[in-house]
Amino acid sequence: KKTLRVALLGCGTVGREVVRLIESQSDDLTARVGAELQIAGIAVRRGGRDRGVDPALLTTDAHGLAVRDDIDLVVEVVGGIEPARSWLVDALKAGKSVVSANKALLAEDGATLQEAAAAGGADLYYEAAVAGAIPILRPLRESLHGDRITRITGIVNGTTNYILSSMDSTGAGFNEALDEATELGYAEADPTADVEGFDAAAKAAILASLAFHTRVTAADVHREGITEVTAADVASARAMGCTVKLLCIAERHTDADGGESVSVRVHPAMLPRTHPLASVGDAFNAVFVEADAAGQLMFYGRGAGGAPTASAVLGDLVAVARNRLAGARATPESPYADLRIRPMAEA
Ligand code: NDP
Ligand code: HSE
Repeated sequence: KKTLRVALLGCGTVGREVVRLIESQSDDLTARVGAELQIAGIAVRRGGRDRGVDPALLTTDAHGLAVRDDIDLVVEVVGGIEPARSWLVDALKAGKSVVSANKALLAEDGATLQEAAAAGGADLYYEAAVAGAIPILRPLRESLHGDRITRITGIVNGTTNYILSSMDSTGAGFNEALDEATELGYAEADPTADVEGFDAAAKAAILASLAFHTRVTAADVHREGITEVTAADVASARAMGCTVKLLCIAERHTDADGGESVSVRVHPAMLPRTHPLASVGDAFNAVFVEADAAGQLMFYGRGAGGAPTASAVLGDLVAVARNRLAGARATPESPYADLRIRPMAEA
């Protein structure tokens, strides 16, 4: 029986669920992949804690694990830019395919990871990085690849949607709702990334890059968070038949000279309750895509939390494992359109 050996970097909210799914669905996964997916090591920051996994698998040397000769595939669910970038670059260059949920890294420096993947002939998949369980990146880079996407409007941060929905429906205070979102495993290790809009901006950059075939980084995204949204703002919106949502909006524009450009922004917005995104509550996410031929498409589901995110990680893991067995890799993403990115003043 064939075996593919997986290095798991991170065993927190998402990592624990990845282990649970791999173990509980072992037979099905083996049948789908055509080989057994075997967790060969699990990297964590703090050793010596009981995590409900075989202690013999645990290590605090994530880099050593990621580049080990016996490892075929690497799953990164740690987060942050460094040291995750160095681990993944070295793993990719060594020919190990990578699945990552790390939107901060992909939005900051996806190009370096893509180059390392090309150098190593490896795959880089990251469906879990945007909108948790919702399949949105592969539809953008595969199913809609023959179409021309004109706009993406999304609710892509579960924590802020949970906070705003709680403030709207139960009158909960901001801090109380943030504590609940953290307790439920939705918030980032530092929830500033959620409430100040950095997380949504990273996801907006990834969506825009794929939709418009242009390298968009988090720094290109105009960003406002929800820390200035008060209970009074939410109540006034309600009185006007509206609700407040943190939206990401990525648009294609035609310039005066006939060329094209792209604008990407994240900010709180008042939405009429009749708008399709207004009913997206709790930590759910939704991404509304407009394309020339397809028209309007709406992708909806759980955007945060251990199990929903692990579902997307497992989907990618099956894909990279099958590619590995077939001796193939996915078609690399190339930013061939390279549209101009508009500053906010022009957007
Ligand atoms: P957690 O903080 O719960 O888990 C992070 C894990 O990484 C922990 O096991 C931690 O070890 C480990 N870790 C941290 N630093 C190191 C290091 N230097 N070396 C080895 N291991 C390290 O995060 P989440 O599981 O919530 O998120 C993981 C990733 O998934 C992030 O990129 C996040 O943005 C992304 N993501 C999260 C979602 C969610 O809903 N939670 C949804 C979508 C994406 P230790 O346990 O010892 O602290
Ligand atoms: N902190 C993120 C959120 C996790 O709340 O949406 C999912 O990416």
